[in-house]
Amino acid sequence: MRVLSVVGARPQFVKLAPIDKALRRAGIEHVIVHTGQHYDPMLSDVFFRDLGISAPAEHLGIGSGSHGKQTGAMMGALDGVYAKHQPDLVLVYGDTNSTLAAAICAAKMHIPLAHLEAGLRSFNRRMPEEHNRVLTDHASDMLFTPTTVGAQHLANEGITEGVVITGDVMTDVLYETRDMVAGAPSPFKDSLGLADGSYSVATIHRAENTDDPERLSEIIESLGRVDHPVVVLAHPRLLAKAEDFGISLNQGNLQAHASVSYPELVSAVLHSRGVITDSGGLQKEAFLLRVPCTTVRPETEWVETVELGWNILVEPGKALTEAASRPHPAATDAEPYGDGHAAQAVVAALLAHS
Ligand code: UD1
Repeated sequence: MRVLSVVGARPQFVKLAPIDKALRRAGIEHVIVHTGQHYDPMLSDVFFRDLGISAPAEHLGIGSGSHGKQTGAMMGALDGVYAKHQPDLVLVYGDTNSTLAAAICAAKMHIPLAHLEAGLRSFNRRMPEEHNRVLTDHASDMLFTPTTVGAQHLANEGITEGVVITGDVMTDVLYETRDMVAGAPSPFKDSLGLADGSYSVATIHRAENTDDPERLSEIIESLGRVDHPVVVLAHPRLLAKAEDFGISLNQGNLQAHASVSYPELVSAVLHSRGVITDSGGLQKEAFLLRVPCTTVRPETEWVETVELGWNILVEPGKALTEAASRPHPAATDAEPYGDGHAAQAVVAALLAHS
């Protein structure tokens, strides 16, 4: 059996790592195709290196662009890649433009398609990721969903065939990385002189938050007003927009820091007192590390983190600033995202299907 994975953006490399390992362990041939959506070494190469992912067989070098141009360029290149490698199944991850491009090409070429992280919904059609998720799910033959909530969303849209609840592969890679960095100090201890438990980690990168100068300015000001140090790990989009709009990322208690590798991120969060983010993955990672999360979005796909009391959705301003300093929530041993063995479940389902 030959599985061809298409990835392109940072969170997809994290999801790819445990799958690549599990496929290799099962003796399944695995061809990795990198679209080049993310190309900065800190957004791409370091993940392959640190997480021990096999080198991509193909790199499409597509880069940045408007949604149509980026997605279309990927599709134009993927036809030939699929024809060359003749996969038995194409596996796509999450909800980026790389996911959608790979899914449409596989469907058009009648290649069986599997979607990892199927069934997630924000119900906000203004998010580019929401279109990518819905369209990919409806083109897929196999749908690996991390949660029962995901399976319910699929059922509500009439998709019940090929759905497998596997748990979340991000739990697999997070637990492994947590155990690896457990004894080491926070990367911010030496570099920024921040004691364990004294700071929050922030990430803001979504277009909905970065592309409107007023909203971005309000978010950054709110982060600066938090009553303890906040380190914002600056995605290239945030850096570019802040510069365009003349917004300083170093104000009040806020200081900017370059993007970090995955093990450094896990270590930084593990030793933090809180996370403030608009990322999907980080909300869940904070929960799994039992660090309170404040999410700067009107809705979340990871509703379990909110229901269990570990995540709060806020608008920028007073609500954000106050939520970032709230007391620790009640402990929980709930495992809505699986126990760290999701990749095995995915591979078992693939083998059963072949
Ligand atoms: C993409 C995904 C988003 C995911 C995020 C993780 C889509 C629609 N969005 O958003 O779901 O959460 O990745 O980071 O697919 N840039 C660089 N260097 C890079 C890549 C991008 O400087 O290596 C800059 C470019 O100015 C680019 C901008 O970042 O225009 C946005 O990049 P893009 O890949 O379009 O989307 P992300 O915001 O990263």
